[in-house]
Amino acid sequence: MRAAVYSSFIWSLLPPLWYTLCATAAPTDLPSAASLYVPHIPDLHQDEEHPLHIYAGYLPSDPDARSAPSTEITAHLYFVLVKARRTADKERILFWFNGGPGCSSFDGLMMEVGPWRLDGKGGLDRTEGGWEEYTTMVYIDQPVGTGFSYTSSNKYLHELPEASHHILEFLRNFYLVFPEYQQMDTFLGGESFAGQYIPYFADAILSSDLNIPLRGAAIGNGWIDARTQYPAYLDYAVKHNLIEENSEGYKRTKDITDRCMNNLAQYTTIYPVHDDLCESVMNTIIDARTKTTDNKLQCLNMYDVRLYDDYPACGTNWPPDLTPMYTYLRRPDVVRALHATDAVSQWEECRGKIHRNFATKHSNASVTLLPRVLEKIPVMLFAGDQDLICNYVGLESMMQSMTWNGEKGLGTVQTQSWSVDGTPAGTWVTTRNLTYVKIFNASHMAGYDVPHVTHDMILRFMGVNFSALTDGSVRIPSAVGSDSKPVPALLDETPTTTPVSGKTPEQDKAMWEAYYNAGSAALVLLLIALVIGGFLWWRFRRNRSRRLPGTLSSQAAYEEHIPLTESSEFEEQNAYRPGDGSGNGKGKERASEYTPKEEIFRVDDSDDEDTKTPTGTR
Ligand SMILES: *[C@@H]1O[C@H](CO)[C@@H](O)[C@H](O)[C@H]1NC(C)=O
Ligand SMILES: *[C@@H]1O[C@H](CO)[C@@H](O)[C@H](O)[C@H]1NC(C)=O
Ligand SMILES: *[C@@H]1O[C@H](CO)[C@@H](O)[C@H](O)[C@H]1NC(C)=O
Ligand SMILES: *[C@@H]1O[C@H](CO)[C@@H](O)[C@H](O)[C@H]1NC(C)=O
Repeated sequence: MRAAVYSSFIWSLLPPLWYTLCATAAPTDLPSAASLYVPHIPDLHQDEEHPLHIYAGYLPSDPDARSAPSTEITAHLYFVLVKARRTADKERILFWFNGGPGCSSFDGLMMEVGPWRLDGKGGLDRTEGGWEEYTTMVYIDQPVGTGFSYTSSNKYLHELPEASHHILEFLRNFYLVFPEYQQMDTFLGGESFAGQYIPYFADAILSSDLNIPLRGAAIGNGWIDARTQYPAYLDYAVKHNLIEENSEGYKRTKDITDRCMNNLAQYTTIYPVHDDLCESVMNTIIDARTKTTDNKLQCLNMYDVRLYDDYPACGTNWPPDLTPMYTYLRRPDVVRALHATDAVSQWEECRGKIHRNFATKHSNASVTLLPRVLEKIPVMLFAGDQDLICNYVGLESMMQSMTWNGEKGLGTVQTQSWSVDGTPAGTWVTTRNLTYVKIFNASHMAGYDVPHVTHDMILRFMGVNFSALTDGSVRIPSAVGSDSKPVPALLDETPTTTPVSGKTPEQDKAMWEAYYNAGSAALVLLLIALVIGGFLWWRFRRNRSRRLPGTLSSQAAYEEHIPLTESSEFEEQNAYRPGDGSGNGKGKERASEYTPKEEIFRVDDSDDEDTKTPTGTR
């Protein structure tokens, strides 16, 4: 007994001792994993038996911090780690990045691929379809100054290689705090402007001394190549009937596209990430679609061409979850619970200051690095087909003009159809380590629209052995071409009506509630039927003895009538109707319900520039 106490005491001394020994190598303010543990997320209704395991807080990311004066505020990146809820065939970890530049990865965590969504009542609802089901997810706010991360204001980053250096330093510190993840299969994921970050980060990791098993990178609606993606705006607009060929809007867009291409040809020492004049190409299309509805100027939603938004937001107010997300992430109790109290300003989805500083004037676009990355690891490019700002037409054009692993373009490999839960989900093609997935009926934030579809996609890309899964999303069937996901026989009978398309969390909830209600209603009806049946049987026996058969038939008709009437009334009031979720109407109504009370996009030193620049590429 005594010996045990003693030895555990000695063991408890070891970590501090170890840190003391490493003090020269690691920054002095490295937190312990225990101090980063988040035991409670305010107003999140958790499954008590399977709570989420979350770590959150700051890690130093300035590679030169050791030579900085001790009075200086050095760069710290903020992260939220959500541990995998279930074990698949093996353990995996994925680092997630939203775009901008300057947009917080809380977008991914709270609206796209995370474990919960805003419930519209100030709190959070747990949802299925989050990537943490089988993968530990780490959401990172970067470049420094984005979201909750911070640095002194003269230390904002400007170029992509700088951001890579910060990520490498962040990861070094991450593995000192969480050594258990260093040998785990590792993936990078993100969207939009992360189409620049991710090839840079992958390349930096692969040529670093970090020695982690980086197995793949996934980019959703990525901004990768200015030279093919700018001219594709017009092609997309024509293809999706946003602009009629040879109309006024078409001519204006064509003209500005031509001038944009001239500009792009001028760059000789650098392959540009973006160009100021070219930024107006998309705005010309949006302007051509601007209209007045109920005396309000409305413009096309640049992230989902099925939708409109108030002018000049044009999508930056969307999705409607954004307003409650602002309220939630600015609550002092939430900031404390998330270990984000060191942030110098309140949380913002996309910070204009960071966006303007991170101008990448001297960085080559990531399309120049991508072939080098593809030599070493698989990369998946996925694209929601309703997005305009980083649309699939541009991505397809980019792939056709890129040379990687010895050949140009996707080649002659057959594109396959992909279905999830019995519904067409998109198309799928893989060539020489590059996978391209087009997702049907999904916006720029594909995970927002079709969480179960994007989850199936990432499981497939990560090579998860579906046969080894035992619960949860294993019930949702899917197939790419003839490659069907095996659904365990035992689970076959479970309804697989998990929603997969175009439904909001509220609609999901309503639908599940409808199922529950339907269940209890069925039970009640069964009981009523039994009581009536018993009564009738008693009456029948009595009538037969009295020889009055006439009453029977009317009673039987009455019996049959009850469930039918009741159930149709029930459907009217409670049941989910498939038509509700699709189309623009719902989104627009919801958007106006949640119209933000303040300019959410540029709180500080705001100018009109932000809506005109790819701040939008979040
Ligand atoms: C950009 O790419 C060009 C062409 O490959 C190369 O010469 C140049 O050094 C690169 N510049 C930077 C900053 O990486
Ligand atoms: C593709 O990625 C793998 C690692 O998954 C790597 O071994 C291989 O060399 C890469 N290149 C090609 C052409 O497949
Ligand atoms: C979803 O996309 C497919 C393919 O583009 C299309 O046929 C189908 O009508 C779409 N469904 C909805 C509900 O928009
Ligand atoms: C996948 O998992 C199943 C069940 O655990 C196993 O029998 C099978 O060998 C695994 N397949 C691969 C390719 O590892």
